[in-house]
Amino acid sequence: MTESLTFASPLTLNNGVTIKNRFFKSAMSEQLSTKALLPAPSLAVLYRAWAQGGVGLIVTGNVMISPDALGEPRQVVLERGADLAPFEACAKAGTENGAHVWMQLNHPGKQIPKILNKKPVAPSAIPLGGGLEKIFNTPRALLTQEVDTIITRFAESAALAKQAGFTGVQVHGAHGYLVSQFLSPRHNQRTDKWGGSAENRMRFVLELYKAIRKAVGDDYPVGFKLNSADFMKDGFSDNESMAVVEALAAVGVNLIEISGGTYESPEMMGRDNKAPVKESTQRREAYFLEYAEKVRSRIDTTLVVTGGFRSGPAMNAALRSGATDMIGVARPLAVYPDLPNRLLNDHEYTVSVKRPTTGIKIIDLASALDIAWFEQQMHRIGNGKPVKANLSPIRAAVGSLITTGVHALQKRRA
Ligand SMILES: Cc1cc2nc3c(=O)[nH]c(=O)nc-3n(C[C@H](O)[C@H](O)[C@H](O)COP(=O)(O)O)c2cc1C
Repeated sequence: MTESLTFASPLTLNNGVTIKNRFFKSAMSEQLSTKALLPAPSLAVLYRAWAQGGVGLIVTGNVMISPDALGEPRQVVLERGADLAPFEACAKAGTENGAHVWMQLNHPGKQIPKILNKKPVAPSAIPLGGGLEKIFNTPRALLTQEVDTIITRFAESAALAKQAGFTGVQVHGAHGYLVSQFLSPRHNQRTDKWGGSAENRMRFVLELYKAIRKAVGDDYPVGFKLNSADFMKDGFSDNESMAVVEALAAVGVNLIEISGGTYESPEMMGRDNKAPVKESTQRREAYFLEYAEKVRSRIDTTLVVTGGFRSGPAMNAALRSGATDMIGVARPLAVYPDLPNRLLNDHEYTVSVKRPTTGIKIIDLASALDIAWFEQQMHRIGNGKPVKANLSPIRAAVGSLITTGVHALQKRRA
């Protein structure tokens, strides 16, 4: 227990970099790119709003390492030869007010809807289940040299992020995307050095780290977002996850963010109203604290738990318990970009961010409402409009169906 710790306390990472407070804005895919898949001007406006809102560390929405590997339309891509000017504008805006802005890098693997890519790649040619096979094509297994190319691309994108002024990078290793597909015994059934044993399955994540570290130098912050578990039968378990966290800590990663779930089992967004939630989770708000407590006893690396935090008292209790070093927050910051300032002024401050629903399940799913509603708030901020905390779910669903057209008919998660 660390009684004097509050969310106003600065934090120093294991590479000596200091973050001004304990608020961590978790990645939210903004879908604010130009047609050329570069950041639109509105993205910098959004990052400025978060920086001015008092958050210590902003993680961008996932930036893809290749235009063939978009998880959603209008995602930003950063690859060799890109025009860095719009990235520089985002980094400048995101570092206002003493904030850090780290770029989240991602490759979706098989989690690419078929309207975006008919031939996705993955560690093994195993389709997504649970009805998702109608929306996502069965992937083909990556060739060995393709695995090497993807690692090189991650490293190149990381070096470019640094060059553009981002103050760190985070690899998206959670939520069922390519990195988490490599880690999963269910999705990775390769027989070469990249699959099979737990040691082989974690090789990809460790090689990624090594390549990125080489590209950005020793002192530059490199973090990973990882699943505490995939919550799938025969999937990545919490014991395996702990082994990966320990291995990443041992090689010197600077920060590990904990989440959980995949498109097949979206635990990262919390349980919907019908699913049972433990009383202790309800009280502590955050979904993955129990897991983080177990990890905390094994590593010293900065840990961030994301998912479910809504009130000052629960955030402070989590920090004081030592289970998390920072408070990872996503959806509330799409509605209240100045949430950190509000909490710094009033430690009891609490937001209520309900899961948006039209009451008609098929419309909620078709419009990807639990994502689209928040995306629309981010678009409002980016376009200089005030957020609409009372934005009607029906309007958001219609807006989503109109703006993303057929794609909105796909189920997608972040
Ligand atoms: C609109 C939206 C987009 C998201 N995009 C990403 C993403 O790009 N990368 C990622 O790691 N998580 C993404 N997430 C998940 C969040 O980072 C976070 O894990 C999840 O929302 C739970 O945290 P919360 O309860 O504070 O919202 C997204 C969530 C939402 C609502």
